Amino acid sequence: MLEGKNIILGVCGSIAAYKSALLVRLLVKAGANVQVLMTPDATSFITPLTLSTLSKKPALVDYYKTETGEWNNHVELGLWADMLIIAPATANTLAKMANGFCDNLLTAVYLSAKCPVYFAPAMDLDMWLHPATRQNVSRLQSFGNTLIAPGNGELASGLYGEGRLAEPEEIVDFLSSILKKKLVLADHKVIVTAGPTYEAIDPVRFIGNHSSGKMGFAIADELARMGADVILISGPTAQVSGQQSIKRIDVTSAAEMLDACLAHYKDAKACIMSAAVADYTPVTIAQQKIKKKDASFAIELKTTTDILKTLGEQKTKGQILIGFALETNDEEANAITKLQKKNLDFIVLNSLNDAGAGFKKDTNKITIIDRDLHKTAFELKSKDAVAHDICLKVAQLINQ
Ligand code: CTP
Repeated sequence: MLEGKNIILGVCGSIAAYKSALLVRLLVKAGANVQVLMTPDATSFITPLTLSTLSKKPALVDYYKTETGEWNNHVELGLWADMLIIAPATANTLAKMANGFCDNLLTAVYLSAKCPVYFAPAMDLDMWLHPATRQNVSRLQSFGNTLIAPGNGELASGLYGEGRLAEPEEIVDFLSSILKKKLVLADHKVIVTAGPTYEAIDPVRFIGNHSSGKMGFAIADELARMGADVILISGPTAQVSGQQSIKRIDVTSAAEMLDACLAHYKDAKACIMSAAVADYTPVTIAQQKIKKKDASFAIELKTTTDILKTLGEQKTKGQILIGFALETNDEEANAITKLQKKNLDFIVLNSLNDAGAGFKKDTNKITIIDRDLHKTAFELKSKDAVAHDICLKVAQLINQ
């Protein structure tokens, strides 16, 4: 959620300033561009060098440095930031913010910033409970600033109570969840299936296909970027997901994929079946490795359950179901038959006759056909860009 975000972290003069080192590290690790601003008093608790090194940018304290003629422009900094976090926020800085004082770089940037502001107080119990602080906090909240509430526990004074700076991990989780809530698919559970299935013949052999799982993984990543709670049910593949929030379930056979889908389908808002599921599976699986005997050899197969069709039959009002059709001939007619037979909201058609489309490629060329048989043909694109087109359509359907 924090990837690529420009974050100003304001550090004030509190013993809890030592925690800001870990906070900077976590924000940087999450992919954020972090600019640290310190109040002059904060430098007594933690050095600018520590925070500069961790944030990979000089931590700024002063408006200007006369010796080098450097000017730290508070207006530019305020405009640069996507979010301003003040942690630890002392009683003194909260009072200045609540009353419009700007006697240091951090408070001047606060007054200039147009972005959302979050403040995580750290102070002693009685300072936190004092009516002046309560009033300042309420005032800041009335400005639209967000409080990251302090925790309860042993304080630096030796007293026990409320006033401990929220833990850096909690602050990062809090910010991530706020950003996530603003995303178009926030709080929607979406199932994605990806890759091939392997149907065992004996302990060493299977029937499989060439699906790499690239398309399904790209869709899962894009859905997660849009804020969905993604359940990725994957057949055997070497793909790795780029989004940590994705819940990945590895399966091997079509039967296992069916079970995993059914286990998650009930409360899912949407399901995108991009897996290349085997249509047939051996009637029996040999317990031992089959030995070479005769010149010819036949394996008796039975059909697998059509997962998508099963989900289509169980679909409830408001659920969105999307299938894929990889065709070699009569592409549109075949895709429309599948769309209708499986009760889908739209089907993603790709033809093996299109150069650049299909298994193992990094590109794909798709046509989306919806329930009203409205067709949208897309150009050849990277699978990531195709995933974006598909997920955008899913988001439109969910939010319409
Ligand atoms: N599918 C499925 N379960 C199966 C077979 C397919 O869920 N046992 C899904 C695929 O994930 C895909 C869609 O159904 O989203 C279409 O798959 P495809 O193999 O193209 O179609 P089939 O219905 O199997 O028909 P055919 O193989 O005859 O083209």
